[in-house]
Amino acid sequence: MTNVLDRFRLDGRVALVAGGASDFGMPITRALAQAGADVAIADLAPERALHAVSAANEAGHRSFAAACDATRRDDCDAFVARVERELGAPSVLVNLIAAPVKKGPSESYDDEAFLRMLDVNVRGLFVFAQAVRPAMLRAGGGSIIHFASTSGVLGMKEQAAYTASKGAVIQLTRTLAVEWAPAIRVNAIGPSWFMTEGLRVAVEGDPAKGVPPSAPGYLEHAKSLVPLGRMGDVEEMAAPVLFLASAASSMVTGHLLMVDGGLTVGRT
Ligand SMILES: NC(=O)c1ccc[n+]([C@@H]2O[C@H](COP(=O)([O-])OP(=O)(O)OC[C@H]3O[C@@H](n4cnc5c(N)ncnc54)[C@H](O)[C@@H]3O)[C@@H](O)[C@H]2O)c1
Repeated sequence: MTNVLDRFRLDGRVALVAGGASDFGMPITRALAQAGADVAIADLAPERALHAVSAANEAGHRSFAAACDATRRDDCDAFVARVERELGAPSVLVNLIAAPVKKGPSESYDDEAFLRMLDVNVRGLFVFAQAVRPAMLRAGGGSIIHFASTSGVLGMKEQAAYTASKGAVIQLTRTLAVEWAPAIRVNAIGPSWFMTEGLRVAVEGDPAKGVPPSAPGYLEHAKSLVPLGRMGDVEEMAAPVLFLASAASSMVTGHLLMVDGGLTVGRT
């Protein structure tokens, strides 16, 4: 008898987690490995992904983290080539990469910061997807999962660059889904607020990254907008990613899966 849970398995598969040093990286990497995949992590700061590598190893799977700048095509090509050489052709790409959110009024938003955001969040995602496609076809097809945001469908004060970039990620996802079907499915996830290092920087600010702090009470206000009344826990991202990565979602492509506590469907 068919067991539906088998559809979530990734036995013998190879997965890439780009931006896997993000705090989402650990639960996602662990889930992919628990489902049966070997997992490679690419990030500007791979040393911050070592706990994710350990989580995959503890689940009995091979894993490594390596430096890769997603805005550099040669880096992405070299990373994918190494993955194929050491682990095998990848059939899953989860892309978490994003530049730090830099807020500022639209009337004076800095040109360079705007371009940098689009370069990392949009072109970086695109370049990674292009780099992985040939290997994914050699693996017999696969699934690409882009991290968008609720900010890709909602207007957000003083976040012109970030919201524009995440809207573009959603449209890029839809176009790739149409163009690369049926071999490759391409979907996006839209989180609301999850307490990660990236969100901490956006809230508290970081002078080294040129990020000013958010207004006092920002997170309390944010939570009040979410029907479930709270921020997400990064562990709550593992199962939605596994659903999109596996045959559990075999008829799903071009979809934006909101993991947002209901933020985008209405107010309490
Ligand atoms: N945390 C949230 O509340 C939230 C909400 C909505 C959407 N998201 C999205 O989820 C994803 C992860 O978010 P996060 O909060 O963990 O962010 P984060 O900034 O902590 O993580 C992003 C990761 O991308 C890496 N990175 C940045 N530029 C890179 C480049 N050029 N090449 C390779 N790696 C690069 C960083 O080193 C970092 O590890 C992002 O796409 C973000 O926009 C997060």
